[in-house]
Amino acid sequence: MTLQDQTAAAFRPADRIARLGVSEILQIGAKAAAMQRAGRPVIILGAGEPDFDTPSHVKQAAAEAMARGETKYTALDGTPALKAAIVEKFRRENGLDYTVAEITVAAGAKQVLYNAMMATLDPGDEVIIPTPCWTSYFDIVRIAGGVPVAVPCDGAQGFKLSPDALSAAITPKTRWVMLNSPSNPTGAAYAEADYRPLLDVLLAHPQVWLLVDDMYEHICYEGFRFTTPAALEPRLKGRILTVNGVSKAYAMTGWRIGYAGGPEPLIKAMAVVQSQSTSCPSSISQAAALAALTGPQDLLALRAADFQRRRDLVVAALNAIPGITCRVPEGAFYTFADCSGLIGATTPEGARITTDREFCAWLLETAEVAMVPGAAFGLSPYFRISYATSEAELREALARISAACARLRPA
Ligand SMILES: Cc1ncc(COP(=O)(O)O)c(C=O)c1O
Repeated sequence: MTLQDQTAAAFRPADRIARLGVSEILQIGAKAAAMQRAGRPVIILGAGEPDFDTPSHVKQAAAEAMARGETKYTALDGTPALKAAIVEKFRRENGLDYTVAEITVAAGAKQVLYNAMMATLDPGDEVIIPTPCWTSYFDIVRIAGGVPVAVPCDGAQGFKLSPDALSAAITPKTRWVMLNSPSNPTGAAYAEADYRPLLDVLLAHPQVWLLVDDMYEHICYEGFRFTTPAALEPRLKGRILTVNGVSKAYAMTGWRIGYAGGPEPLIKAMAVVQSQSTSCPSSISQAAALAALTGPQDLLALRAADFQRRRDLVVAALNAIPGITCRVPEGAFYTFADCSGLIGATTPEGARITTDREFCAWLLETAEVAMVPGAAFGLSPYFRISYATSEAELREALARISAACARLRPA
């Protein structure tokens, strides 16, 4: 036995992570990147990040912060200046009045979610999560000792939670409901009329808190009016955590800044978690996020218009493929298409496609296009395309997908 084998045999992960793995999205991305390194012309439609660069005034603000010596620990859950800018952002864009004490800043919205779950869940506490959903929700809840309760929301209901399904999922152990609009992976967004009956259900269950993930707020398309529950229902604001961040809106995924507004006791408890993990978000990234939130905002609408053109291109191309149907998403930069018409089909190599995982694996091999199967997000048979890539690449990828599907022999 080599020393490496001995270590592998001796290593025992904690129960809390033993059954969790690295996200399927990252695994697919790694496989596609390895194929690219081997010289294959793979187009990756898997990544959940904008393809444009962080705005130059934001980079400039970071450089200036470094030059001023802002390179030390900051206040635990955000600098006073950034918190004030977030208060102003919530007021300006969402009509929400939070005080500075009701704001938290962390290393990405993911850490905000993690802090919230670690701060509130006891073993066995349940968190209602409409699926399909962003894969991290389930595992964050599990790591925190909670029990994720999936509520399936299929394409026929626009991938949105219904008030009846919400009512039926609530038990005495429910601590949280998590809602994400516009959604990763479906792009579906809750309008005021969609939220209203859900908020009415929550009014009747005072022990249940609501976490809303507004990460894709600024990527909404024509005719859709973004809104957020804490603004819609002031009686619930005291048990809503409104999560947002700069990653998607300002193309700042690598800077790692997310934030939230919520009731002070929750925000304080979350700070306790953060104090023993990262101590504070990066000082330089906070200066950058401050510039993003207080600087010119016209780029947001320009980017959304760009994404809308790509959405239209992708949806039209997908719906033109026999066996695939794709709903028109209201926001985010994802399509979540139904491939049930191709399940059971036979490939030219003689294999039968029985699941969306097999469909995506086959397309990666034959069409050299990487996409994520719906199974990774909790709903099959679907697949997600991230269209945060150039129109030229999207056209090429869709032509390849269409040509590959044309070679399938129907069931
Ligand atoms: C719905 C949703 N929420 C939160 C995040 C996390 O964003 P951040 O980069 O701020 O951690 C993502 C990232 O993919 C996301 O899709």
